[in-house]
Amino acid sequence: MNDFATVTQFAPQVRPLSDAGGAAIIGIDLRSSISEKVGEMLRSVWRDYLVLVIRDQNIEEQHQERFCKIFGNLAGLRSKVYRTAGNAKSHALWVANAEDSSRPTAVQQGEMMFHIDQCYTERPSKASTLYAVTIPEEGGNTRFSNLIKAYEGLSDDWKMRIEGLRALNYFDYQANATTRPETIDPNGPQFLHPIVRTHPETGQKSLFVNRQMTMFIEGLGADESDEILNYLFEMIEDPTNVYEHVWKVGDLVLWDNRCTAHARTYYNPKESRLLRRMTVLDENPVK
Ligand code: OGA
Ligand code: MN
Repeated sequence: MNDFATVTQFAPQVRPLSDAGGAAIIGIDLRSSISEKVGEMLRSVWRDYLVLVIRDQNIEEQHQERFCKIFGNLAGLRSKVYRTAGNAKSHALWVANAEDSSRPTAVQQGEMMFHIDQCYTERPSKASTLYAVTIPEEGGNTRFSNLIKAYEGLSDDWKMRIEGLRALNYFDYQANATTRPETIDPNGPQFLHPIVRTHPETGQKSLFVNRQMTMFIEGLGADESDEILNYLFEMIEDPTNVYEHVWKVGDLVLWDNRCTAHARTYYNPKESRLLRRMTVLDENPVK
């Protein structure tokens, strides 16, 4: 009998990480299979805290896949560039600071502004996971903003002002992740989404805009659109709405991509940073 697996999976502990969400799950080994009961507990903690942090893991791709499947169906790699490298069956995208032609790699260096993964598409992913393989000495932290808390912190006047508005989300693959794109290529990936969305499971409303990718509000003049968006970006980036994750090798982090935005702090690009990323499909339309 494997006592270790039974004990570690019987009653994992939950440790809240900040006032803006995030919870560490302690006493779980993702190399072992996870019972339905623990799976239910993880989904429930995730609904309450939006970001799950599981430290001290030593997992391969298949364990990360199995973990993701607790929350939904795995998403494939969307970009053609990513699909052509490496094993076509893999769902993993490597977030790295150096090109590696042997596997799908998203080369990203240094700081990255707040964004929501794939919000420039019709169906952004429901959840994303990152597993830390190599982490720099300092910096490269991932900051998660709780977009429910950011929405709830608005005055009633602001809530009324933005109700029903939609904004264009756009991504420029060439752009620097520390600045907003200045122009929009009509052929580039883009999608209009409501700026306030409702969580399909909890019914909670959250903001759904971000500084890197949300370009303008539909139907408003540029000045008014900028004024509203800048105000919302400030709310989203206010430290009281943010949990900042300081990575250690072996950390697995899962976030709700429907109601959080994330950013990365600066790190020295000469140092290696490598994480394995896997995402979960959203079965519900953005509403
Ligand atoms: C991502 C991402 C942030 C980081 O993988 O979508 O934004 O800290 N990563 O690497
Ligand atoms: Mn991202």
